[in-house]
Amino acid sequence: MKKRLLTISATIFACGLNVLGQDAVRSVDASQQWYLNAGESTYVVGINERHMLQSLYWGPALPADARLPQAHSSGEWASFDTPANTTALEYPAWGEGLFAEPALKVDSPNGDRTLVLVYESAKVSKSELEIVLHDTVQPIKVHLFYEVFPQGILSRWSRIENAGSQTFVVEQAASAVWNLPAAEDYSLSWLTGQWAGEWQLHSELIQAGSHVMESRRGSTGHQANPWFAIGREHATTEDNGPVWFGELGWSGSWRMNVEGTSQNKVRVTAGYNPFDFAYVLEPGKSLETPKFYAGYTSHGQGEASRILHRFQLAEILPTHPNPKPRPVIYNSWEATEFAVNEAGQISLAEKAAKLGVERFVVDDGWFGQRLTDKAGLGDWYVNKTKFPNGLKPLIDRVHALGMDFGLWVEPEMVNPDSDLYRAHPDWAMHFPDRNRTEARNQLVLNLAREDVKEYVFNFLDRLVTENDIAFLKWDYNRNWSEPGWSEASGSANGSAEVAKQKEIYVRYVENLYDILAKLRAKHPKLEIESCSGGSGRVDLGILRYTDEVWTSDNTDALDRLAIQYGFTHAYAPETMAAWVTDVPNFLNRRSIPLQFRFLSAMQGALGIGGNLNKWTTDDMALATKLTAFYKDIRTTVQHGNLYRLQSPLKSESSHVEYVAQDGSQAVLFSYLRSQHFGMALPKVQLKGLEPKASYQVRALDAGKYKGEAVVSGAVLMGEGINLGLAGDYDSTAVVLERLETRR
Ligand code: GLA
Repeated sequence: MKKRLLTISATIFACGLNVLGQDAVRSVDASQQWYLNAGESTYVVGINERHMLQSLYWGPALPADARLPQAHSSGEWASFDTPANTTALEYPAWGEGLFAEPALKVDSPNGDRTLVLVYESAKVSKSELEIVLHDTVQPIKVHLFYEVFPQGILSRWSRIENAGSQTFVVEQAASAVWNLPAAEDYSLSWLTGQWAGEWQLHSELIQAGSHVMESRRGSTGHQANPWFAIGREHATTEDNGPVWFGELGWSGSWRMNVEGTSQNKVRVTAGYNPFDFAYVLEPGKSLETPKFYAGYTSHGQGEASRILHRFQLAEILPTHPNPKPRPVIYNSWEATEFAVNEAGQISLAEKAAKLGVERFVVDDGWFGQRLTDKAGLGDWYVNKTKFPNGLKPLIDRVHALGMDFGLWVEPEMVNPDSDLYRAHPDWAMHFPDRNRTEARNQLVLNLAREDVKEYVFNFLDRLVTENDIAFLKWDYNRNWSEPGWSEASGSANGSAEVAKQKEIYVRYVENLYDILAKLRAKHPKLEIESCSGGSGRVDLGILRYTDEVWTSDNTDALDRLAIQYGFTHAYAPETMAAWVTDVPNFLNRRSIPLQFRFLSAMQGALGIGGNLNKWTTDDMALATKLTAFYKDIRTTVQHGNLYRLQSPLKSESSHVEYVAQDGSQAVLFSYLRSQHFGMALPKVQLKGLEPKASYQVRALDAGKYKGEAVVSGAVLMGEGINLGLAGDYDSTAVVLERLETRR
């Protein structure tokens, strides 16, 4: 395993240069242009004759000697669209008759609410570019940042600076605007969801008007994810054609606007959600926007996903650039819910250890007066009735069984029925005199407050210091309803007071990130999962501090195939926690055989969440075999290249394949939901193999693989594999080991 990890980081970092061997950032002073080369793509911006920054190119890599024509402002379209509207401005502020989505809108003290941003300076370093713009009248500067990553990702964000001596209010601030090349047949893919139904993939033709994806919830949300992919309707498939794609790294309210303008131009704007937003810029102060990562590939949706996966492993996840394979976990939630206690958890731990589980996680219910979801959140002391001797005896037993220990927490929440709330009712977000809307009987603590931030950090620090905890499942089970923050206003009053309070949208999330960063710095071995009733908080902001996410509370193995299919469009399988749970499933009463449940959960970071006390000897034997099988292929699954061979949305069968970064191993998972008319499963053509290499085939179920023991890559990809799946909910897996000697 160690050897393969080294190979991955070497592969990922082999290239400080892009595919054409160019520098990451190149400036062409004569034409005031900057060329950013990320992987197989190039992005170019330039200054036009009106001193405004325009985007000039976003597409396949350009050679080093390529020169684009000088940036040129577009003209008026009749008298109704000014150049601000018709020109592909790089960071368009509201002003000069801009009617498309602005990147920036600022209220000035003299009542001026427009800006006209012109070029001031640029600074190029190895892989970064900073361009400074300033307003032609007000002392507002905008710093635009670009960072180029060799995996093929360009990160963009901005900093809005008040360089004057009076106070300004930012009303709207995007991280970046991405202008696409002119074309008529763009198709947008995006992800939506709900609790227990996350990661639903959609696509539609982009037409004139805005397609808005957003969260006004205070956190990322299940309902939409800040990811987009745009292809060409008639040219882009899973394996071929151009894709422009990106995702925003922000765990608070966000908005992404994909817009077909009146000029038939497509642009994508994302950043802070302007809904209920304000940020007060006192003299000398700045507001920085979240990072908006994007890329381009000519090789279809599949490659766009793989670029994102590699990038996340190499640059985003806390353990980058050498991500650690996720351990196999056991989690007690579905087995015991709130009824956790020392004896019960030890009994589950003993059984989990026999299966080969590496991490035992106690879920909700261990603290305060937490007998149901009506009480206890906020009181982070061990419940003495359930664990009379604290957590130590359980943790010691878990260690003795060869596993490490994880614990569920929900640090940002409080139940009104808790000691914390009784002592500090003002710590919950609220508006004066207004009812505090409860959801799951809980309120959200105002983490923007420094005293709340300190309380949360201190209890977590104490918990992890006093107990040998390797992992926290960090949950977040509701969204905001009354985001008031009366203490924020200080001496301000009236509308300034309200504007100051609205900073809660930024400061809460920044404090959350600070707590996570500080906790990890102080406890370097600690790993964290981001959970929010499933995937309610998954984005590249939180993933800088958390190693994995809880993909969905929906653990039905069939629904999960669709959920996971959507998930992998935007995020790496390494981060995708998936458990095998009991049947009939609690959500939809569906009963699916154990092997199918395992193979479904093996698409990401495998976990087990069933009530092991009820598993039969046969279940235990099969689970032990499948857990061992997973460990053998997990580095390939978690760190490899994913090929979504057949979507579970389109047919009764589906297939996914993972190829190790060094090509030495590949694994195929195949699922048949239901066979009809006795029809045989069509052969499965693999991808991403070396045509001339030979592969040793190792089938999980010898009886289901109908082929030779050693097969060439060309045959596996051209002719395909014959699998004898039949009936309902059949499934199997095949491992391919590349034979070095026969290459
Ligand atoms: C959320 C999580 C579940 C579980 C419960 C505990 O719903 O998504 O996995 O931890 O909370 O209350």
